Amino acid sequence: MNILVTGAAGYIGSHVVKQLIEETDHSIFVIDNLSTGHQKTIDKLNDIFQQTRDGEITFYREDLKNFEVIEKIFKNNSFDAVIHFAASIVVPESVENPLKYYMNNTVNTTHLIKLCNDYNVKHFIFSSTAAVYGEPIESQVTEETQTEPINPYGRTKLMSEMVLKDASCANDAFSHVILRYFNVAGADIHNRIGQSFPNATHLIKVSAQTAIGTREKMMIFGEDYNTPDGTCIRDYIHVDDLASAHLKALAYLEQGNKSNVFNVGYGHGFSVKEVIATMKKVSGVDFRVDSAPKRAGDPAVLISNNEKVKQVLSWKPKHDDLDVICMTALAWEKTI
Ligand SMILES: NC(=O)c1ccc[n+]([C@@H]2O[C@H](COP(=O)([O-])OP(=O)(O)OC[C@H]3O[C@@H](n4cnc5c(N)ncnc54)[C@H](O)[C@@H]3O)[C@@H](O)[C@H]2O)c1
Repeated sequence: MNILVTGAAGYIGSHVVKQLIEETDHSIFVIDNLSTGHQKTIDKLNDIFQQTRDGEITFYREDLKNFEVIEKIFKNNSFDAVIHFAASIVVPESVENPLKYYMNNTVNTTHLIKLCNDYNVKHFIFSSTAAVYGEPIESQVTEETQTEPINPYGRTKLMSEMVLKDASCANDAFSHVILRYFNVAGADIHNRIGQSFPNATHLIKVSAQTAIGTREKMMIFGEDYNTPDGTCIRDYIHVDDLASAHLKALAYLEQGNKSNVFNVGYGHGFSVKEVIATMKKVSGVDFRVDSAPKRAGDPAVLISNNEKVKQVLSWKPKHDDLDVICMTALAWEKTI
């Protein structure tokens, strides 16, 4: 198959392309504007390609907002499926500059879906997020839990989900899988690729940066939540396990199954303090951690119910181990 991957120079997309290279014989096309992604990630993926099988990625350094250019790419190729990662992803920035998020996430996604319909692309896999659930009453959310995002980022993703669902409903030849990711962390087990976004706000990356001295200290935002140690609990999933869910989703659609939505997480969580203690243990560094006030919109506990992805996609995580997640994040941080 010919697979178009948008945003593959970034963190999660690159791990999915790595698996597409190593575990399938699909031809891989990438569109990325390198706004937060990196050319060196594309180069590394091409190294992996050459070590694995003949060929290389066809890379278009383009911005999805340039509709005419993107349409030409569709016209000149015959894609079977699109896996769409490209997006703006920083929640506080989405509050300050919502239109950037609606344009880049919802408008560009809608255009991409339109091109899929105009050029007979059969399948679409979409990167969604647990942020679509907002602050759910239940701590373990299923795909049926009410979606009520509390920030523009979450709303741009939920709106894209709606566009995708309506487009699939109206076109029998088009099907999709929506994957709602929980807290993605860690890096390639062989330390070839990882998260390079310098201002990332993700807890495990920040704690790895503090362990190696890139940051002088880190913060805990709130210590009086209704949890055993008072800090927030989240469902941290290793990026390679998340990536494998995309390959399962692609096979599922290729087998002719119906459009669907899946949570992707491990179904259990760790507190902020547990994560920091693990990073201190695996790094051997007792780095500085300060207390800070709670942030608006942080639910005490947010954990996936992952029964559906395990049953329907036969997804089997391999790295459900906080030590491994922290060790791979730390090893990667030392390389950048
Ligand atoms: N990282 C997480 O914890 C997390 C959690 C839930 C959902 N997601 C979703 O996963 C996807 C990937 O996230 P990530 O962490 O890999 O982010 P990332 O910033 O590392 O990757 C995004 C990639 O998209 C590219 N891009 C952005 N806008 C573009 C545009 N207009 N045209 C072309 N390329 C563009 C960037 O250059 C980058 O390479 C996003 O859709 C995000 O919303 C991420």
